Amino acid sequence: MSDTDNDQLLPLILDIGCNNFRMGWAGGDFPDIIAPSVYVDISDYLFKSDIINGLGDIFLNTNTQAHLVGHDALKYKSILKIREFRKENNYNILLKFFYHYYQQLNISEELRFKQPIIIITPFYKSELEKTKLQEIYFNLLNFPYLLFLSESQAILSTLQKSSGVIVNIGESNTYISTIFHGFTNIMARDMFPITGKDLTSYLLNLILSKIGAIKNIYLDIAITKEIKERLSLCILDPTGENKRVKEGLTKYDRIVDLPDGTKLKLNSERFLLSEPLFNPKIIHVDYIGLAEAISKVIKTWDRENWEELLSNVILSGGSSLIPGLSERLKVELQKYFSEKLKNKIKVVAASGRENMGWIGASILYSKNQLKKGWLNNPNLQDPDQEQNDQTSSQNELK
Ligand SMILES: Nc1ncnc2c1ncn2[C@@H]1O[C@H](COP(=O)(O)OP(=O)(O)OP(=O)(O)O)[C@@H](O)[C@H]1O
Ligand SMILES: [Mg+2]
Repeated sequence: MSDTDNDQLLPLILDIGCNNFRMGWAGGDFPDIIAPSVYVDISDYLFKSDIINGLGDIFLNTNTQAHLVGHDALKYKSILKIREFRKENNYNILLKFFYHYYQQLNISEELRFKQPIIIITPFYKSELEKTKLQEIYFNLLNFPYLLFLSESQAILSTLQKSSGVIVNIGESNTYISTIFHGFTNIMARDMFPITGKDLTSYLLNLILSKIGAIKNIYLDIAITKEIKERLSLCILDPTGENKRVKEGLTKYDRIVDLPDGTKLKLNSERFLLSEPLFNPKIIHVDYIGLAEAISKVIKTWDRENWEELLSNVILSGGSSLIPGLSERLKVELQKYFSEKLKNKIKVVAASGRENMGWIGASILYSKNQLKKGWLNNPNLQDPDQEQNDQTSSQNELK
C-alpha cells in the first residue's frame, strides 16, 4: 500500500458496532461520523396517504427508498419499527448504511472508493463475517485495500503501553482481553455475558416493578436507554444505599420527564441497574461477576505477569461510561489478589473511552504502526494504479 499526501486518499477507519457506527479519516482525533446502527423498513409503514388524506406526506414526505438508515431512520421512531442491522447480521443494509454515510464525506468523484479501509475487529468476529465484509468492500465497492485491525490492540495503543487488560463493554458485546508486551494469548480472554442492552432491560424491569399497578406512563426500551445514559451510576455499597433510600435518603432522587408528558421519579434504580455486571445472577444469567472474570483472565498468565496487567486495566465502550464503574471495579478486583498486588490495581477510565477503538486505530496509523496485515483487492491487478471506474454495483446504490 502506498503512502499518500492526498487527504482524501488516507485510510478510512470503521467501527461497525451494534449501537454505533463510527467512521473517519485515519490520523484524525475523533471519528468524522458517529451514527446509530439502525434502519427502518418503509414497508412497515402502516398508514397510506389514501387512507387518511395527507398523512403519508406529513410523515414520509416524498421519500421513495425502501429503507432509511442511521439518523434518518431515527426520525421515524415513533411510527416505524427501529431495526438493528448488526444484531440482525443484515449485510445488505450494512452496505446501504455505509454508502449513505460515505457520501457525507464529500469525496471528489475521481477519488471515490479508492481509500484503504481499516475495520476495527474485536477478537470474537468470525471468519465468515470477515469474508462477508471483504465481499462488500472488495467485490461490491471495489476498495483497493482492507485491514482487519484488532480492537484490543487499538484500545491499548491509546495508553502508549504494550501490556494491559482491555474490558470493553458495548451494547451487545462485552469482552475481556489481555495483551502482554505486545503478545496476545487466546486462552486469556473472555466474552462476558452482561452488556449494555441487558442493563437497559434490567432498568426497565426495575422501573416497571417500582410503579407496580399504576400503569399511567408509557415507557419502552428506547426511552429507558436514554434514561440509563443520563442517570446511571455505579456505587460501592448498593445494598446499604438501597436500604437508606427506603428509609428516606433523597440524594439519588431525579425526576424524569417522559415523552408522553408524565413524570417519573427515580432513585435507587439508578445504581441498582449496574449491579448485574457484578452479579449476573440478578438477571438469571449463571455466570461469575465482571471482577472475578477479569481476575481469571489475568491468572491465565504466569504469576510474574499479573502485576503489570493489574496496573493497566482499561475500560472502554459506551457502557463503561457509567459514573463510578472504575472505582467499584477496583474495589471488587482487590478481593481476588494478594495484599501486595491489591495496591497495584489501576483501572483506567480515560475520557473518550466510548470511541477508544477508533481513536486507537487512528493513533496507530499516525505512528506508522499499521504496515502489516493489509489485504489487497484480488479484483484489482495493481491496486496502487488507477482503479477502474466505479463498478455497476456501486451505481446501483446511488
Ligand atoms: N453514559 C452512559 N451510561 C451508561 N451506558 C451508556 C452511556 N452512554 C452509552 N451507554 C451505553 O453504551 C452502549 C453502546 O456502547 P458502544 O457504543 O461501545 O457499543 P457498540 O460498539 O456500538 O456495540 P458493540 O461493541 O456491542 O457491538 C449502549 O448500551 C448505551 O446505552
Ligand atoms: Mg463496540
